Amino acid sequence: MTPATIPDDMLAIEITKPGGPDVLTPVRRPVPRPGPNEVLIRVAAAGVNRPDVLQRMGLYPPPPGASDLPGLEVAGEIAALGPSVSGWNIGDKVCALLPGGGYAQFALADAGSCLPVPKGLSPEEAAALPETVFTVWANVFDDARLQPGETLLVHGATSGIGVTAIAMAKAFGARVLATAGARAKCDAALTLGADAAYLYDEEPWDEEIAKSGGADVVLDMAGGDFLARNLACLNPGGRHVSIAFLRGAEAPINIFAIMQKRLKLTGSTMKARSLAEKARLAADIRTQVWPLLESGAMAVKIDQLFPLADAAKAHEHMEKGGHIGKIVLKAV
Ligand SMILES: NC(=O)c1ccc[n+]([C@@H]2O[C@H](COP(=O)([O-])OP(=O)(O)OC[C@H]3O[C@@H](n4cnc5c(N)ncnc54)[C@H](OP(=O)(O)O)[C@@H]3O)[C@@H](O)[C@H]2O)c1
Repeated sequence: MTPATIPDDMLAIEITKPGGPDVLTPVRRPVPRPGPNEVLIRVAAAGVNRPDVLQRMGLYPPPPGASDLPGLEVAGEIAALGPSVSGWNIGDKVCALLPGGGYAQFALADAGSCLPVPKGLSPEEAAALPETVFTVWANVFDDARLQPGETLLVHGATSGIGVTAIAMAKAFGARVLATAGARAKCDAALTLGADAAYLYDEEPWDEEIAKSGGADVVLDMAGGDFLARNLACLNPGGRHVSIAFLRGAEAPINIFAIMQKRLKLTGSTMKARSLAEKARLAADIRTQVWPLLESGAMAVKIDQLFPLADAAKAHEHMEKGGHIGKIVLKAV
């Protein structure tokens, strides 16, 4: 492919104003031009993530300088290279973590945030990877240092993050405990490889986990009343990583429990990390996670595909909360 085949404009999904799924509007936009160290990707598929819903509602703006279009991950083919890009060529099949702009037929990515499409995976599967794999890798493995044989507790078992955390932690030889809000979701978590799954509103999951060996790492998207319960089932030396606070941003903490068990509490957002940090994570993911995907030790769980123009329907589907795994937009 040559740059000459790149059209002047493209289909993109704009957030016309903060609001419900209906504010996601198909529009024509100029195809963006890559700047220094950027590549232009002809998008085959784009992943949908909960942070896109928050952005649409006006609660999670894109970082300064990023596209105003939603979309944190895509897969496709490199259509053009910006100045000083090395290591990538026009025509390479890649997937990429983006600060925004994925809901479009073309998207810009920093060269360091791109990874090759893993061998044997479809563009839709590859598009479902970057946001959750970078997030789980950065928090569970890079920060919290989950080790083979240790136990991970993950809430939101069937969320995009949850299915990725289960698949990655099992492929790395950890024991995985999960919670979900419905029995069918607990069953799905077990099918995906979790060693045990608890109905979070009905079962005393913290007591049961503490009685059955405890957890070494908690990946928490709940916060609120779950925080004390998470700390109660962490083992000595345990690590607690917050990536969201669906049950509340504030929670009382028993400082004595932290002292007694030498617990470490941390948290992060992926969007705010520097490009250099994302490039470092991408390099580690390429060597540590990509072989697991290519060998089949780790699988991608897709719930449903939607055409790009139906992004509003994809968001409605996510907000109904019945999905198990990733929701993906097909751009071609
Ligand atoms: N910090 C970061 O870098 C980062 C990056 C990506 C995502 N995130 C966050 O991670 C979370 C998951 O993202 P996603 O894209 O995977 O979303 P998703 O597929 O839409 O999943 C959302 C999950 O939240 C759970 N949930 C909702 N309300 C809950 C509640 N009151 N108590 C317990 N669980 C509840 C749901 O579990 P049930 O259906 O079983 O109730 C569901 O599994 C989101 O909050 C997102 O903002 C953070």
